[in-house]
Amino acid sequence: MAAIAPPNSAFAVYLHWPFCKAKCPYCDFNSFVAEQTPDPKAWLKAYQSELTHFAAFSPNRPVTSVFFGGGTPSLMPEGLVAGLLETIDRLWGFAEAAEITLEANPTSAEAARFAGYKAAGVNRVSVGLQALDDADLRFLGRQHSAAEGLAAWELARGLFDRASLDLIYARPQQSLAAWLAELDRALALKPDHISLYQLTIEPNTVFASDVRRGLWQPLDDEIAADLFLATRQRLAAAGLPAYEVSNHAKPGQESRHNLCYWRYQDYVGVGPGAHGRLTLNGQRWASRQHKAPPAWLALCNDQGHATRHWQNLEPDDAWQEALIMGLRLREGLPLARLEALAGRPVAALLDLAMIERLCQSGDLSLQGTEQARTLVASDKGIERLDAILGALVL
Ligand SMILES: C[S@@+](CC[C@H](N)C(=O)[O-])C[C@H]1O[C@@H](n2cnc3c(N)ncnc32)[C@H](O)[C@@H]1O
Ligand code: SF4
Repeated sequence: MAAIAPPNSAFAVYLHWPFCKAKCPYCDFNSFVAEQTPDPKAWLKAYQSELTHFAAFSPNRPVTSVFFGGGTPSLMPEGLVAGLLETIDRLWGFAEAAEITLEANPTSAEAARFAGYKAAGVNRVSVGLQALDDADLRFLGRQHSAAEGLAAWELARGLFDRASLDLIYARPQQSLAAWLAELDRALALKPDHISLYQLTIEPNTVFASDVRRGLWQPLDDEIAADLFLATRQRLAAAGLPAYEVSNHAKPGQESRHNLCYWRYQDYVGVGPGAHGRLTLNGQRWASRQHKAPPAWLALCNDQGHATRHWQNLEPDDAWQEALIMGLRLREGLPLARLEALAGRPVAALLDLAMIERLCQSGDLSLQGTEQARTLVASDKGIERLDAILGALVL
């Protein structure tokens, strides 16, 4: 049986900044509108304590990527970002060509900090444009206009080696033609990476209550499926093929950090509500930090970390997580990896007859050699991935 350790040495650090200017009506991420401006010194100290805590478990692993996610990390003072990167460098050191991404919202006040982030060591930004016209941005509850978004994008594109943009589509009543026209405008911005998310109505959001009260209806599922497939075709034709369900990139410009999650490699997660996965002595461990910012800060001060959940994953949990993540990727999932995590042959994990049927229907394919098989979902399969996963697992 192959070793359980990830096949390459990717080691990522995720830092969660949980504050936003306003709560967007569709968003269920762990994000809050701060009652008072967070104290950068206190936050630096708290993040440092969690980083130090996790470094004790996972020494001697050069960091291949860092991701400042949120929330709205472009509200972080530049000095805090610099201090955190210095801390990561001191604790682990960076691998060559480490990818350091910061998620940015494109208001003009935040764009004014971009140069400071670059000076701190950030080399990639992911800009949350979300839509390219003002009426849709208002519907999405965004704090920026289309013009402000474009100006922030141009600034980011000029400053950083690598820049990605995010859009939300399958908005209510959005037609295929209108979406493809917007997509073409986004492609004219020359991103090297683009994340395109179908609008999801998450429970306990303002949008969920709007829909419940009949104020508007989400886009019909079949139309949303058409938009999904047309999006993948258009992006492939433009030279940014999908490499994951919602992510598209020029070859070589894929997010190395997010690939680390989908390939089920190792990552440390610090900050309120952050998740991590580590392989320690051949065992897979899962971590989750306390979600509420005040409690997180207090726990970090009192005990040096705010770990709420630290669990040695059972092999059955580990291989199933790897399956769920890996099938999202266009490169697919090496079956040997599943066997290594499970400690059992693939025939004891997955319904092989079902795999064969799904290969015949064009939803899946088995690629590679007999000794090194990779299970790959097609565009059609990725569009109905949840149903496929449900059918595969024994
Ligand atoms: C955690 S958000 C943070 C990014 C940043 N704060 C922003 O708003 O641009 C990451 C991405 O998830 C997407 N997202 C969040 N909630 C969503 C939802 N309910 N439906 C579709 N996309 C969503 C947005 O496109 C967003 O850019
Ligand atoms: S979508 Fe982004 S800006 Fe809006 S509430 Fe969520 S994390 Fe904050």
